[in-house]
Amino acid sequence: MHIIIIFYLIYKVDTLSVCDSVCVCKYNNQISDDYQGETVDCSYNVGIFDNNVSLPNKVHSLDLSFSNLSRIDSTAVLRSKTMRELILNNNAITDIAPDSFSLPELRKIDLSYNSLEFIDKETFKNLKKLQYLNLANNKFTTFEKLTFHYLSNLNEIILDGNRIGPSLEEVNLFDRSGFGLTQKVQTISISRVGLNIVPDNFFVDAYDLRKLVISGNKITDIFEIPFTLEYLDLSDNPIQEISSEDFADLPALRVLKLNNVSIREVPEYVFEPLHALRTLELERNKNLTIFDKLAFGRDVLQDPNDFLLERLSIKGSRIKKLDKDLLDPLGQLIQLDLQGNPWICDCDLVWLKELQITEQYYEHLRCFTPKPLYNARIFDLDAKYFTCGAKKRHVGGILAIVSFCLILATLAIWIFLFLPKYISRGNVIQQMYTPSTAYSILPMSATVHDYRN
Ligand SMILES: *[C@@H]1O[C@H](CO)[C@@H](O)[C@H](O)[C@H]1NC(C)=O
Ligand SMILES: *[C@@H]1O[C@H](CO)[C@@H](O)[C@H](O)[C@H]1NC(C)=O
Ligand SMILES: *[C@@H]1O[C@H](CO)[C@@H](O)[C@H](O)[C@H]1NC(C)=O
Ligand SMILES: *[C@@H]1O[C@H](CO)[C@@H](O)[C@H](O)[C@H]1NC(C)=O
Repeated sequence: MHIIIIFYLIYKVDTLSVCDSVCVCKYNNQISDDYQGETVDCSYNVGIFDNNVSLPNKVHSLDLSFSNLSRIDSTAVLRSKTMRELILNNNAITDIAPDSFSLPELRKIDLSYNSLEFIDKETFKNLKKLQYLNLANNKFTTFEKLTFHYLSNLNEIILDGNRIGPSLEEVNLFDRSGFGLTQKVQTISISRVGLNIVPDNFFVDAYDLRKLVISGNKITDIFEIPFTLEYLDLSDNPIQEISSEDFADLPALRVLKLNNVSIREVPEYVFEPLHALRTLELERNKNLTIFDKLAFGRDVLQDPNDFLLERLSIKGSRIKKLDKDLLDPLGQLIQLDLQGNPWICDCDLVWLKELQITEQYYEHLRCFTPKPLYNARIFDLDAKYFTCGAKKRHVGGILAIVSFCLILATLAIWIFLFLPKYISRGNVIQQMYTPSTAYSILPMSATVHDYRN
């Protein structure tokens, strides 16, 4: 019924403000004067462009997501001198007419989850102030069909899920005759783009890059990381090894993510050069069994005040033990997640219980071995169960055997050195098997005496 009335109104009046019909509009005066205007939400409105609709005078943002749009043409709705934000994600857009956008104040455009293979380079011509461009999960492959030359104020670009990896291995993102991305860009996300290798000098022109997400590719070796970075996500790559040289020159790096990579070891000193590091994730590393106690260097063990990390997660990896020397530095963390590792709950791990770990991070902090403790929550388990009993019995056994051998050897030497020459060795051996008080007791007491000295 409502819909019929709305359609009637639309046909009756030549142009209708979208706010009077299908969209939800809200005047936004929360933000600074500059940005004030109507927030127009037309999402989930299939067929919005079928009718002659117009925008209110002062629009701040327009949301046209989930509206089954397949083509963008020049329409009144996309002409605005005030619009800052245009949201077009999750449609089925395959074409954008080059003169579609007449939005000189636009700062942010989201075109993710569409079916774009090509964007004419003139399309961005009237978006000179654009700062944020999201083209994730489209069908771009090469720069011939995607260039950014007009976007001189771009700050953040998201290209995830487009098969541009092979193209990036040939042509640099910042290449003026290629993609032509501004060197001033601060955030780049190229997750799941099919990149096998990051060529040398790939980021050499990016002089202000702060955040790089390059997860979900096929990168095996760590590349030259731009020294300006503050945030680096290398997760879901088959990276084999990490070393301190990889992170040697990153004085500003605050967040490092190395989740689901193929490393086996967190070697000594690897994170020592990262003085600004506050968050470190090493989650779901199925081959990671060794975490060296010197991973953060030696200084932090001696003076935990040097340890400025705030958050560490090695959730879901394969670490079995951690050195007790890490108690002081790890004890300072705001957040520590050690869950889902196959911990060996013995006397060497009991120190873990001294850490102040909040409930949400110990539910799955459980023992893997020894068998009787399998799956027990480490923080629920009394310290007395963390024993090295088996080990001690073993050591005791070895000690007993060694002492027994020593006694025998002493006995033999005593016999050969001090026994009167006229008694033949044959006789001695005979006497050993049929011991007299002299031979069976004397050497024994001599040995005991030796031990006391
Ligand atoms: C849409 O509205 C504009 C302005 O009111 C008018 O000039 C134009 O002819 C209309 N177009 C259609 C298809 O009704
Ligand atoms: C979405 O658009 C396509 C053509 O562009 C059309 O065939 C389909 O019916 C539309 N879906 C809905 C739910 O309207
Ligand atoms: C983990 O990384 C591999 C590639 O190294 C990838 O194939 C896999 O999908 C990733 N797993 C998850 C859960 O992302
Ligand atoms: C772990 O190592 C094994 C043996 O080398 C290898 O086959 C496997 O792919 C690795 N797994 C991961 C997640 O790297």
